[in-house]
Amino acid sequence: MRDITGSTANECAVKIAQKYTESTDIVSLFLSHHGQTQFATGISGNAFRRKGFPNSTAPNHLHVPAPYCYRCHYKASYPGCGFQCVEAIADHIEYGSSGSVACMIVEPILGNGGNIVPPPGYFQQLRKLCNEYGMVLIADEVQTGIGRTGYMFASELFDIQPDIITLAKGLGGIGVPIAAVLMKSRLNVLKKHEHSFTSGSNLISLAAAQSTLDVVAQPEFLNDVKLKGEILGSLLNELPSKHKCIGDVRGVGLMWGIEIVDQDGAPDVHKANEIIETAFSDQRLILRDSRYGYGNVVKVRPALVATDDEIAEIVERLDAVLQKVG
Ligand SMILES: Cc1ncc(COP(=O)(O)O)c(C=O)c1O
Repeated sequence: MRDITGSTANECAVKIAQKYTESTDIVSLFLSHHGQTQFATGISGNAFRRKGFPNSTAPNHLHVPAPYCYRCHYKASYPGCGFQCVEAIADHIEYGSSGSVACMIVEPILGNGGNIVPPPGYFQQLRKLCNEYGMVLIADEVQTGIGRTGYMFASELFDIQPDIITLAKGLGGIGVPIAAVLMKSRLNVLKKHEHSFTSGSNLISLAAAQSTLDVVAQPEFLNDVKLKGEILGSLLNELPSKHKCIGDVRGVGLMWGIEIVDQDGAPDVHKANEIIETAFSDQRLILRDSRYGYGNVVKVRPALVATDDEIAEIVERLDAVLQKVG
């Protein structure tokens, strides 16, 4: 199904799940980001973005803890935790839902929430849970899709086996607006009048997507992203020994984040923002903070076509910024 934005693609995926399952409720993760429309903001796990907008809420909706091992909601440690973050979802459904659950929507890596990479086995547990409750599993790959992790879809990397994948961002190559909803054929249940937009099939966007896919689908391109991701990861992993404000470095492919902490290991949002501002003013380095500036993770996302030298330079400049900010 064609769409224009990631937000509306996610709305489409939820509609499909609700119609297919004849159920209502939607489960999503704390710290998730599924878009900027009122409904997509409602299902996203960052409630501060709804402040002042009483309609930015999704009825029949549950938020559950994210697989954020660095700051585990249950104060447990992987792998001994027994995936409490998945087990507890059953309780949330039991006590917090209407009992009619349609779908679970997850980002393979919670991008805006802090580049949170779920631990091995998480998605397999989640798949089992979705099967148990008859929930459609939606992978929101708006950030992780189209080569960002070195795979066309992060669902392949994590072996998620989703029923629906939503795409946007990278699909248009350089920001041409286009989104897509990929689904198993049995889920192709929406009629035209149930989800369509004036520019939903515009030829410029389709041409941009086709050209992007022609490039990204080449195995050597994806392989190159994987190799560059390894370089980026190993260079970023050298930084914590030099800079005490880095509590964690995590990522895959060309999607990385560094978690900024204070002396006690608590999230240091102020410093994360200072790093981002200084990176731009001193080094002309464009970085983004998690949670729209309310988070403490500095996101590092080079272009997929960045060269090895450019990746090394990005980390050198970041190193200089960390040196200055202290
Ligand atoms: C994971 C994820 N889902 C959905 C969206 C919303 O996409 P769009 O801005 O195209 O509506 C975003 C945007 O940042 C995103 O990161």
